[in-house]
Amino acid sequence: MTPIATVQRKKTLHDIPSAELAGKRVIVRVDFNVPMNGAAITDDTRIRAALETITYLIKHQAKIILLSHLGRPKGTVQEALRLTPIARHLSTLLNQRVLKSDDCIGPEVEAAILHLKNGEIILLENTRFHLEETDNNSDFAKKLAQLGDLFINDAFGVSHRADASTSGIPNYLPAIAGFLVEKELSVLTQVLNAPERPLVIIIGGAKISSKFGVLQNILGRVDTLIIGGGMSFTLLKAQGYEIGKSLYEADLLEDAKTFLENAKKSTTKLILPLDHIVVATFDNASPQQTVDTENIPNDQMGVDVGPKTIAAIQTEIKTAKTIVWNGPLGVFEMDNFANGTLEVAQMLAKSDAFTLIGGGDSATAIAKANVTDQMSYISTGGGATLEFLEGKQLPGITSLQNWESPE
Ligand code: 3PG
Repeated sequence: MTPIATVQRKKTLHDIPSAELAGKRVIVRVDFNVPMNGAAITDDTRIRAALETITYLIKHQAKIILLSHLGRPKGTVQEALRLTPIARHLSTLLNQRVLKSDDCIGPEVEAAILHLKNGEIILLENTRFHLEETDNNSDFAKKLAQLGDLFINDAFGVSHRADASTSGIPNYLPAIAGFLVEKELSVLTQVLNAPERPLVIIIGGAKISSKFGVLQNILGRVDTLIIGGGMSFTLLKAQGYEIGKSLYEADLLEDAKTFLENAKKSTTKLILPLDHIVVATFDNASPQQTVDTENIPNDQMGVDVGPKTIAAIQTEIKTAKTIVWNGPLGVFEMDNFANGTLEVAQMLAKSDAFTLIGGGDSATAIAKANVTDQMSYISTGGGATLEFLEGKQLPGITSLQNWESPE
């Protein structure tokens, strides 16, 4: 079993006397990488999640300089990835003017910040319009750092990236965690190190390759591990089942066999799908049938879990005290294949356990099932949450100042 990464407690906004914030230029890295449909924000969860830090800074009269990326423009200016609609939305949420610049460095940005009054906010343009951002270029990080007096990372969702605006700026400025990052770290650390048991983790999603690390790391730590979604077919194939036309990752079959052996030796109870909804073509309207895992026809593919699997998950959820869910159990973006995922969302909503949702797809599924408010905690991180649960150090977190006892 991989040893658990010790999480060094970080200095946070709570550790700074609020009176020291007045008039200070505070750079806040936020993760406003939100889903968009044209200029419309289709899910503003990440923007709302940063409001606590922002409103605190307004209240204490800091000059607030927000930095974020959006999408992956790879160093080119893409009109569709400008942060202008996000500035507008933030302004509505705060009921306050939010200035917006057309770049994140340069003389115009410097002039705008010079004129910023206490309690005012400016959102700088998409950091990824500069290739130096994802290259973690030190000159670029220095230029960003020169815009402020203090750096706050409140972008948990991008803390697994060693970018200039996440782990580069802390080389040049005092750097601390914002309220969102503090909360994410505290919830995830608690779940990983001292959960109320039984601890049940449900992992789904299309590809096992993106989650193998976390699967291996949690064996022996979690009481029950339920694996569903497309990724389960690589494991079922490794167990010797015929999986028809279901997608699997051939290059991971050997690793899958090792994982299954390790699971058998561990204290973790592993549950794989017992039955499936299968179709002949990848089409929402394709006629479906329900089959057990040992009876998947050659010309069919699995697109959702079946009723026996849902019942098995229900049994585990009934007794669980902590439940972590990451990734859908079927192709839930197609309505006819969403049943398993939505059923699980409803079960979590009814459960008395502490429910932690990680990853954009699961959060979307929870919203689709209309039970968002009934979850204990929805992490804003996708990849970041998984890497944390995998026991990895996140560069955007390790670069922050360590907490020191006041005496
Ligand atoms: C995310 O959406 O997971 C974060 O914003 C990171 O984005 P990235 O995967 O493009 O680095």
